[in-house]
Amino acid sequence: MRVTVNDIREMKQKGEKITMVTSYDYSTAKIVDRVGIPLILVGDSLGMVVLGYESTIPVTMDVMLHHTKAVVRGTERALVVGDMPFMTYHVSVEDAMRNAARFIQEAGAQAVKLEGGVVVAEKVRRIVQCGIPVMGHIGLTPQSINVLGGHKAQGKTPEAAVRILEDARALEEAGAFAVVLETIPAQLASLITERVSIPTIGIGAGPGCDGQVQVINDLLGSFTDFVPRHAKQYAKLADIVSTALTEYQNEVKAGTFPTRKHSSSMDESLLAELAAK
Ligand code: KIV
Repeated sequence: MRVTVNDIREMKQKGEKITMVTSYDYSTAKIVDRVGIPLILVGDSLGMVVLGYESTIPVTMDVMLHHTKAVVRGTERALVVGDMPFMTYHVSVEDAMRNAARFIQEAGAQAVKLEGGVVVAEKVRRIVQCGIPVMGHIGLTPQSINVLGGHKAQGKTPEAAVRILEDARALEEAGAFAVVLETIPAQLASLITERVSIPTIGIGAGPGCDGQVQVINDLLGSFTDFVPRHAKQYAKLADIVSTALTEYQNEVKAGTFPTRKHSSSMDESLLAELAAK
């Protein structure tokens, strides 16, 4: 049975911490699912860590749907959240509803995530009214880096902190089932967590949130361009993969791979017949 949004809400009520991680492909999603992580985000961060763009802005609906389908195929239990890309929910409520529906209907996700608070609240309300669970995302919203002036911490002045609290309340009121708090002061994240009834999922927002989300490539050390301050590398996959590939290359060059074990053979008499021709 898949995790539902009610299960996630209940986890907050019970004081049980919520773990969320991104995934972008079938094989990785399968591992995450088997570990028992209840929430998988098919984040538009894939634009940077999978596709090599400088930001998440070039990511399109087609790309997101393609990856979300793969993640859904790899999971049985986790609740899969599809990240709505830049400009797919900004132009109109109708656009937002139609694009959110594509994640559910075409890709098989169970929820969508979109960035913004007060300014997207009406869209969140209408998407939820269609029967699509929505996760909010406030604080540092990477789709707005050109307005924010980069990947900078948010909510550091009293006015900015109040605005983020208002954003969280607007999302709660609009019916979002959870909200991501990205790169805001830990004290502000704790305050929001106390003040709203929906689970807060932090990234660079301290330990006081109801849950945590991380980009899987940062956790596993497979993205080497930079390590965000909020990330902890639980493995160094880039090093492990480099060692394995060097060994592979050395063995191919030395003729020690493949061996008989990795090959198939044919009947000796057939071979003799073939050679005689
Ligand atoms: O795209 C993403 O991976 C995200 C998380 C960082 C929350 O939005």
